[in-house]
Amino acid sequence: MIDIRLSDRLSAVLDTAASNATSKERIIDVGSDHGHLAACAVAGGLFKTAVCTDIHKDPAGKSEALMKDMGLDDKVSVFCTDGLDGIDIVEGDTVVMAGLGGNNMIDIIGRVRTSCDKEILRSVRFILQPQKSIEALRVFLADNGFKIFDESVVTERGIYYPMLVTGYTGDKYDLTLRQKYYGPILMEKYVTGDSIVREYFIRLDSRYKLRARGDEELRKLLEEVDV
Ligand SMILES: C[S@@+](CC[C@H](N)C(=O)[O-])C[C@H]1O[C@@H](n2cnc3c(N)ncnc32)[C@H](O)[C@@H]1O
Repeated sequence: MIDIRLSDRLSAVLDTAASNATSKERIIDVGSDHGHLAACAVAGGLFKTAVCTDIHKDPAGKSEALMKDMGLDDKVSVFCTDGLDGIDIVEGDTVVMAGLGGNNMIDIIGRVRTSCDKEILRSVRFILQPQKSIEALRVFLADNGFKIFDESVVTERGIYYPMLVTGYTGDKYDLTLRQKYYGPILMEKYVTGDSIVREYFIRLDSRYKLRARGDEELRKLLEEVDV
């Protein structure tokens, strides 16, 4: 039996998926690369079945080989496709996207929002860990009726990775500038003294200070904070 150990970051993504799923029937890992998350999800009994998708042939082939080696190929299907294209979303699916850019996630979720039956979509949970552009992703979710159920931060080797749990409700809402950049739920966790969130916000403060030199919106945000 192959023993796969997920990184702290991917373990946190999988734990979050398991604890927020509306059903344990199926997890879909978009941008699955090596396929480790799906293999651990099914081998560990957290989900009954899994789907891996990757836009590139090589990673999709690696995942396929891994599932065969682990005897999981009857429970985990692998597709070489863009996002969720060609995947039939069913009630209670849990979709994970980690390590993709926020704008890529926006494209993928945007296509699902158009094609998927809305009642089915309401039962789907998305666990998103964008490697960049989380602020654009939050605005897209708010503008398109996806509620942010939870946000958290995981650290690995000195890097802070934000993650959010979202699902379609159909209710659109507005985000303040500060909620867009810092996260509505992370802001609440900051107030209640979450130590990782506090460290993460210190990093964001300095990142945004640098970016504000060429970004009017961020300059406005920092002026608001300074008041
Ligand atoms: C940086 S890796 C992240 C792998 C893994 N999810 C993780 O978090 O460690 C990104 C993977 O997503 C794949 N990818 C990028 N855009 C994609 C898309 N639109 N649809 C499916 N896969 C995509 C890449 O080929 C690559 O294997």
